[in-house]
Amino acid sequence: MEKIIDETLQGTAVHVAKKETNTRNLYIESYGCQMNFSDSEIVASILAKEGFNTTQHLEEADLVLVNTCSIREKAELTVRKRLEKFNAVKQNRPHMKVGVLGCMAERLKSKLLEEEKIVDMVVGPDAYKDLPNLVQEIDEGKNAVNVILSKEETYGDVAPVRLNSNGVTAFVSITRGCDNMCTFCVVPFTRGRERSRDPQSIIEEVNDLWTKGYREITLLGQNVDSYLWYGGGLKKDYTKASDMQKATAVNFANLLEQVALAQPKMRIRFSTSNPQDMTLDVIHTMAKYTNICNYVHLPVQSGSNRILKEMNRLHTREEYFELIDNIKRIIPDIAISQDMITGFPTETEEDHQDTLSLMTYVKYDYGFMFAYSERPGTMAARKLEDDVPQETKKRRLSEIIALQRQHCQEKTEQHLGQVQEVLIEGLSKKSDAHFMGRNSQNTVAVFPKEDYKVGDFVMVRMDSCTSATLIGEAVGYSEN
Ligand code: SAH
Ligand code: F3S
Repeated sequence: MEKIIDETLQGTAVHVAKKETNTRNLYIESYGCQMNFSDSEIVASILAKEGFNTTQHLEEADLVLVNTCSIREKAELTVRKRLEKFNAVKQNRPHMKVGVLGCMAERLKSKLLEEEKIVDMVVGPDAYKDLPNLVQEIDEGKNAVNVILSKEETYGDVAPVRLNSNGVTAFVSITRGCDNMCTFCVVPFTRGRERSRDPQSIIEEVNDLWTKGYREITLLGQNVDSYLWYGGGLKKDYTKASDMQKATAVNFANLLEQVALAQPKMRIRFSTSNPQDMTLDVIHTMAKYTNICNYVHLPVQSGSNRILKEMNRLHTREEYFELIDNIKRIIPDIAISQDMITGFPTETEEDHQDTLSLMTYVKYDYGFMFAYSERPGTMAARKLEDDVPQETKKRRLSEIIALQRQHCQEKTEQHLGQVQEVLIEGLSKKSDAHFMGRNSQNTVAVFPKEDYKVGDFVMVRMDSCTSATLIGEAVGYSEN
């Protein structure tokens, strides 16, 4: 295998020559959160060094990896269906091996090998650096499992291979795990305790992305506002840090500022913010730097104080309103999105009305809404009966979706008549004569291509819209 290490760029990029005879094809499919998509890029990088080229074609694969999600039962069922498809392909490619990565691997461990005969390898989210050894084991005809969670692993030293990239926008992971223990959520069990990545390696990755032509990054974590670098180690061990470590610690507002200053023309987004951990410092930092986008994803899950408490969300409805008011005061043209769950155990009609009235108060620009799905092992599953009938969950879900749709339409219309900066990401899905991009608020805009190109920042006059897409015309390059 031939590796070309390009050391002229900051960080180390690994390109693997495409037509080597002793390379093998890796087909990797990702489900669930953005972090999983980002992790797959780390996995592809680790395996590139072992002679694996990524392929988009399942039929060509020597190794198939599926990076899985456990957040709702349906996510797991989707993966099990895909495993059936892999099984069918394997009939014609008997040497093909199959590995399960991510949250399902961590949750089900070696049980997956018993339940799904097609699976050769099970690897949890903190064990990807062990992949070279695990692949060797399956090459020898054995099954391989590593689901050990780590106190330190952040993959800060791995330069991700960008997969399915538009060459313009990229994810940069900044924390792993979550310590919040929301009672419905499986993530703290599958991704372990929270730890932050060295800011230096984050800045290096961002610089490297800029050099390669990327123009927008999204800093990723289950709970980015909780970012805290004090030299490594678990967030929960911070109390044991030395005075020196505490004096030089970097929190999320500091990190945002460092990234904004390192690449003043790179657009910066981040996800996800948890209301209980988001500080005013973060919002002031967003306001201070024009390259930090005016958009925040701020899941609330429910509008009822009683349900918030049962969910172990550590804020009240009133405190959430206060945060929202502050954000809108400091950044008047901010866009805010939500995650919401309907039918959490014991949720009454009154609780549901509280959710609807909270949505009306905030008027979110977008939303991601789900019916509660009981996850084995979580506090809610252990302590509370899943007692809201499926039809009720579904009906409440359709009510909040309908309300969100209305708000979405109103929010999109608010951009009309304005001339806004849009970063061109690629062709519009509907027309090759049009480009698509996003404004700072993350709303999609489409407009005729003219002489612009992918990666340009252009000023677009917003003339009309559908419920979630702005339609306009470019009037020139952005001067920012
Ligand atoms: N902080 C994370 C949240 C991960 S889960 C992030 O980075 O996005 C994403 C969303 O899935 C949650 O905000 C919640 O709305 C939803 N969710 C989590 N567990 C769920 C469950 N058991 N049933 C239904 N929805 C759930
Ligand atoms: Fe899950 Fe709550 Fe963390 S939703 S990822 S436990 S912030």
